[in-house]
Parts: sequence; structure tokens; C-alpha cells
Amino acid sequence: MKKWYAVIGDPIAQSMSPAMHDAWFKENGIDASYIPVRVKSEDLEKTVASLKQLGCSGWNVTVPHKTAIIPFLDEVDEAVKQMNAVNTVCVMEDGTLYGTNTDGRGFYRSLEEVYPGEVINRSILMIGAGGAASGIAFALHEAGCRSLTFTNRTVEKAEQLQGKYPDATVLSIEEAEAMVNQYSLLVQTTSVGMNYAQSGMPLNPTGIHKDTIVADIIYNPLETEFLHQARISGGRTVNGIGMFVHQGALAFELWTGIYPDTTTMIQTISEKLG
Ligand code: ATR
Repeated sequence: MKKWYAVIGDPIAQSMSPAMHDAWFKENGIDASYIPVRVKSEDLEKTVASLKQLGCSGWNVTVPHKTAIIPFLDEVDEAVKQMNAVNTVCVMEDGTLYGTNTDGRGFYRSLEEVYPGEVINRSILMIGAGGAASGIAFALHEAGCRSLTFTNRTVEKAEQLQGKYPDATVLSIEEAEAMVNQYSLLVQTTSVGMNYAQSGMPLNPTGIHKDTIVADIIYNPLETEFLHQARISGGRTVNGIGMFVHQGALAFELWTGIYPDTTTMIQTISEKLG
């Protein structure tokens, strides 16, 4: 029987996941489809039951349901426990609903794709302390990165995150900016610069060392003001398309056993948004 998958969220019409997964199914000769489903918060529990009953094999979860869905699943992994958020559900053979989160690991894979073997020994400055930062810190730590510094507008939130990683350090934004030349990987996880709605930068990267890798998880616009400034200051910049594509690829792998072609997908999406 033809398998089907979904992404649930609200709003959902803008999601690029259906086109991405459909292209991967086709490329890999898999007879399956992937549909967007707009789900209001009050309908989440019954939607989960319906998806299972209707034979959905797995689905992605996006805003605003990433945390709210947890009680309706049977099993979640360590990434979900750390981040308190799910972005991928797999319906197991016996009907068990298994939840994981591929966002942070997707970020790590996206850097490894561009800079293989170069990430784990870097001295890392994480800018932001929300859900995205939490997932990325988990994945970087899981991969073996041990030099982590957190900075955030609200320092208390950076301290909470640091509490999970005993070796990590916390700095105020001003302190981090003054010491920015001591880091070899900057990870921008705040919403500053997204959709041109929030202009400005969460931290000025002008003082970075040349060859510092500077990653921004935002991909709309393709280059935020922060990333632009980092690039003209000599940084090797990476935008958020790779993270989006790899979080999807990890979900695809969980469902099908195949890690799909991410390089072409990143190019295609960049051209579309460019
Ligand atoms: P997400 O799940 O996408 O990480 P979030 O949990 O709301 O979203 O976290 C948003 C992050 O962006 C936080 O680090 C937030 O800083 P605060 O903890 O101080 O709120 C950061 N952020 C949002 N708007 C900001 C702004 N104008 N300047 C600096 N940081 C900002």
C-alpha cells in the first residue's frame, strides 16, 4: 500500500517540507506522498489519533505544536527530553508513536557537510538561549564538541542552558562581543534578522578572526545583517538552509532507512529563495 507522511502546524501553507520530501521520494523510487495539514492547537490530540487511525506512517511537527504534542506520544528520545520539543514522529510497526527531534542534529550535519571533520574541536559561541539554541547545543555536545560558551540578551536564560553542560561558560552580549576574536565557530540562533521584520544584529561579529565559521539558522533572508557583517569581516558563513534540509533528511532516514541527497536540495532551495 502507498505510504503517506505529513507535516502538522499552524500556519502550514508556507512550509517547504512537502515539496522537499516529495522530491526525495521520487528520487529514491519510493511510492509515498507527504501532505501539509493545518492543525489548530485545540485539535492537536484528536489529529494525532486520526493520523494514526488513517495509516499515516510518520509526520513532522512545527510551530506551535512541538512541545504540546509530547503527551500524545508513546515514546520520546533523549534529544526530545533535553529540548522539550518534537519535530518528527515515526509510527512503528506495532503502532507505537515515537517522537524525536532532528533540528539540532540537522544543524550539526549541515556544518559537517560543508566543513567535514572541522567542527568538533572549535571553540563555540552560541548566541541565543531559546528552543533552537537548546537543540543545537545538545547535538553539538552529543557530537563531541566540548568548548561551548552561551550568550543571550537575557543572561538568566543562557545560565539555565549552561546548567546542562557543566564545562560551558556564560557571557553577557557585551562581554562576548569584546571577546569575539577568541571563538572559531559562532552560531546565531536568535530570531533577530528574520524576514526583515526584526532588523539589526544580536551581536556585532566585526572583530572575528578570519576563517572563523559563522552560522546563522535563519534562511529568510538568505543572508542576515549578522551574516553579512561576518562575511565582510572575513568569516566563512553558512545560512540556515542546510539545517532545514538536514533536519528533513534525518526524518526521511528514520522513515525510509535512506539518507537522501542534501547537496542538490540545498542548491534548489537557495535558488528558489534567492
Ligand atoms: P526559538 O525556539 O526559535 O529559539 P525562542 O525560544 O523564543 O525561539 O528564543 C528566541 C531567542 O531569540 C532568545 O534567545 C531571545 O532572547 P531572550 O531570551 O532575551 O528573549 C532571542 N531574541 C529574540 N528577539 C531578540 C532581540 N530583539 N534581541 C536579542 N535577542 C532576541
